[in-house]
Amino acid sequence: MKKILITGACGQLGSELTAGLRDIFGTENVIASDISPKNPQLGSGPFERLDVMDREGMEALVDKYEIDTICHLAALLSANAEKNIELAWKLNMDGLLNVLNIAKEKKLDRVFWPSSIAVFGPDARKAKTPQASATNPSTVYGITKVAGEQWCAYYHRKFSVDVRSLRYPGLIGYKTLPGGGTTDYAVDIYHKALAGEPFSCFLEEDSALPMMYMSDAVKATIDLIQASEEHVKVRTSYNVAAISFTPAEIAESIRKQIPGFEITYEPDYRQEIASSWPDSIDDSAARSDWNWSPEYDLDRMTTDILENLPELLKTSE
Ligand code: SER
Repeated sequence: MKKILITGACGQLGSELTAGLRDIFGTENVIASDISPKNPQLGSGPFERLDVMDREGMEALVDKYEIDTICHLAALLSANAEKNIELAWKLNMDGLLNVLNIAKEKKLDRVFWPSSIAVFGPDARKAKTPQASATNPSTVYGITKVAGEQWCAYYHRKFSVDVRSLRYPGLIGYKTLPGGGTTDYAVDIYHKALAGEPFSCFLEEDSALPMMYMSDAVKATIDLIQASEEHVKVRTSYNVAAISFTPAEIAESIRKQIPGFEITYEPDYRQEIASSWPDSIDDSAARSDWNWSPEYDLDRMTTDILENLPELLKTSE
């Protein structure tokens, strides 16, 4: 791994993963790309505009920078995918197949692709959902992730493409806003709390979901990308877990520091998506295969966000 291309780098995970990889591999060796213009969080390193459905454009970037590793993050998230099912299928699948085919033909070292807890549906066990549970999702996003996992396993088996993947829970960070996901409320809530405003939640108060603080997500991703090949035994995608909480519990965690914070509940179509997903995840395979363990619990995450977000909001004014 010497030259890394990140797709979807302007996104919530992409911005922070780019920074994390640049710390390790050097700014010039991590090429950020996105269909959108560069965002300020990406700093001064190399950036290219790229539509991941444009295979030739992607190939040209791989050649130009002598890329040997692709972290392919560009995708439509769950709530947006329900509103635009054909685009979700096309973007999420064509983008991945372009990456896998380029990796196969140019014999790249490695590919990373994110899957999600959305691969599970109502018939998977709700609590501590095991790695090998049935993956029968009820959302379009989930369908694209199950199909993507199968493509990854196929390209690994058939063409020896070293593709690795994580089933992320809801990711919570304060540096870049998420867009179009069902777990996004757990980011928006901190912005409202700091603004001294009440928060209207689009999920019910007791709707538990698996979540993870962004620095743990970046750590999990980098640990998996760097793990030696013989330790990566799951070639569909690894369950990873950190925290699990309900909207009422995150509001309570905020209230420990902002006592007057108020939350109301107005569930919308996203409640149905959330209800189809696990409450919590069993990640013992990731723990034993490549030593995964998270660092942040709910209160530690809340403290970190409430300490650091005001500064960031001030500088971006
Ligand atoms: N956080 C994502 C979403 O809500 C799940 O992978 O869509």
